[in-house]
Amino acid sequence: MKATFSAAAALAATFSLASAANSIPTCGANSQCPSDTPCCSQYGQCGVGAYCLGGCNPRYSHDLQSCVAAPTCQSADYKLNSLDDVQANTVYLGDSSKANWVSSGTPVVYQNDAILLTMAPNTVGTLLMSTHYVWYGQISATMTTSQGAGVVTAFIMMSDVQDEIDFEFVGVELEVAQSNYYFQGITDYGNEQPLNVSNTVQNTHTYTIDWQPDSLTWSIDGIPLRTLNRNDTWNSNTQNYHYPQSPSRIQLSLWPAGLQSNGAGTVAWAGGLVDWNSQYMLNGYYYALVSEVKVQCYNPPSGFSNNHGSKAYYYDNSYGTNDTVATGNNSTELASFFATGDNPSVNPNAAASGTAAAPKNSATPETVPGVSGGGAAGIGGTDSSGNAQSGTAAGSAQGSQSSAGSGGSTTFQQGLGSSGTSQAPPKLAAGSAVALLGFFVACLLL
Ligand SMILES: *[C@@H]1O[C@H](CO)[C@@H](O)[C@H](O)[C@H]1NC(C)=O
Ligand SMILES: *[C@@H]1O[C@H](CO)[C@@H](O)[C@H](O)[C@H]1NC(C)=O
Ligand SMILES: *[C@@H]1O[C@H](CO)[C@@H](O)[C@H](O)[C@H]1NC(C)=O
Ligand SMILES: *[C@@H]1O[C@H](CO)[C@@H](O)[C@H](O)[C@H]1NC(C)=O
Ligand SMILES: *[C@@H]1O[C@H](CO)[C@@H](O)[C@H](O)[C@H]1NC(C)=O
Repeated sequence: MKATFSAAAALAATFSLASAANSIPTCGANSQCPSDTPCCSQYGQCGVGAYCLGGCNPRYSHDLQSCVAAPTCQSADYKLNSLDDVQANTVYLGDSSKANWVSSGTPVVYQNDAILLTMAPNTVGTLLMSTHYVWYGQISATMTTSQGAGVVTAFIMMSDVQDEIDFEFVGVELEVAQSNYYFQGITDYGNEQPLNVSNTVQNTHTYTIDWQPDSLTWSIDGIPLRTLNRNDTWNSNTQNYHYPQSPSRIQLSLWPAGLQSNGAGTVAWAGGLVDWNSQYMLNGYYYALVSEVKVQCYNPPSGFSNNHGSKAYYYDNSYGTNDTVATGNNSTELASFFATGDNPSVNPNAAASGTAAAPKNSATPETVPGVSGGGAAGIGGTDSSGNAQSGTAAGSAQGSQSSAGSGGSTTFQQGLGSSGTSQAPPKLAAGSAVALLGFFVACLLL
């Protein structure tokens, strides 16, 4: 172990990031993950650790136990005025009593009053996700958006089987909130509807999703603007209602849709390429501001009979439809970033050095979706000083002008793949400050 950081180490790290990214096993319809990397992330890649937590798709994972059960709905009024309730995705291991929010990218506290989702040059922005899921409820976010070509702000509900309910804001249309929904990620261009709103950058608005088993209403500042009835979403090909119907996380995000590496349709939808020297950046980054999120949980739907406890949601069948959702007293936690739902107590760092079945470098599995590098986060996150490390990363990220990605070719992907114009999730080559720091720290420990 040598505590000297060098450009050579950074370069080596960059190369291993790039090569690891290429060899990550993929998953999707008719190709489930293998047993050694059993969890299919929302980006369609297999791994362990955080791959098995929020976003883990039970339909494409190795088996129905691979994805860890998800914390059930919790009614709450979250004042987002500090990062005390936010854990980085390189730290969170499923204990929702420790944090109600998980982040990737760089959230920044603004005047002890709100959280800024920031997007510095050559980063892929910031994503804030609830640790508790919602299976029907009323969810409100009070926020302002970012602006500029290619810059997208979003407040969405996203399930592990990729049902989705969206408010999306394109940075060149400041008087439009795009409402949208998906069933299991199936693209349907007819689902999007624009809603009128006064300037979303200058004016703080409260956006509300009222999600019931048979109807869904989008409201702005308490005024209902669109209602979707489940019975109008019947699809005779799949013999399903194409209606969002599975437990979903709240996701707030700011991301660069306008990147050359994205599809032309996505770039056009987003109003063009992102300008990284924009007048709309302050302190070196684009930003959206979220001050409050309110959640009111609804009771499970009438007729619900898969009730075996109230702690966690899971699926008892890989169809992933409403009638395959169950609740139980399952644990929602992993012992380390090398554990999986199939094997939740695996913790290489807990065993005496040399005797543990610690994954070898050459075959190290991916542990955090979007953060390539073979278990880097796992090593950092499960180390006894894991918290200190992440604290450093988060601390330096907070308020920083963030040199994120300076050496980076981390494959870092955010949600919102089905943003209306592209089938494939945005696959981006850029760096995340927190991710890269975590990785470099891990290198130093080797
Ligand atoms: C949750 O617990 C039930 C037993 O109550 C079990 O059948 C099921 O496999 C568990 N699911 C997960 C994902 O842990
Ligand atoms: C929304 O705004 C457009 C453009 O100003 C206008 O034509 C349209 O009538 C408005 N729709 C509603 C429902 O107010
Ligand atoms: C669909 O449901 C709504 C609300 O429950 C109801 O008003 C409407 O008549 C239904 N439509 C059809 C075609 O059944
Ligand atoms: C699931 O949806 C169907 C309609 O597709 C409905 O009849 C049924 O009651 C729902 N079940 C649950 C548990 O929500
Ligand atoms: C789940 O936990 C609750 C509360 O502790 C308990 O009342 C219930 O019996 C448990 N359910 C099962 C199936 O063990």
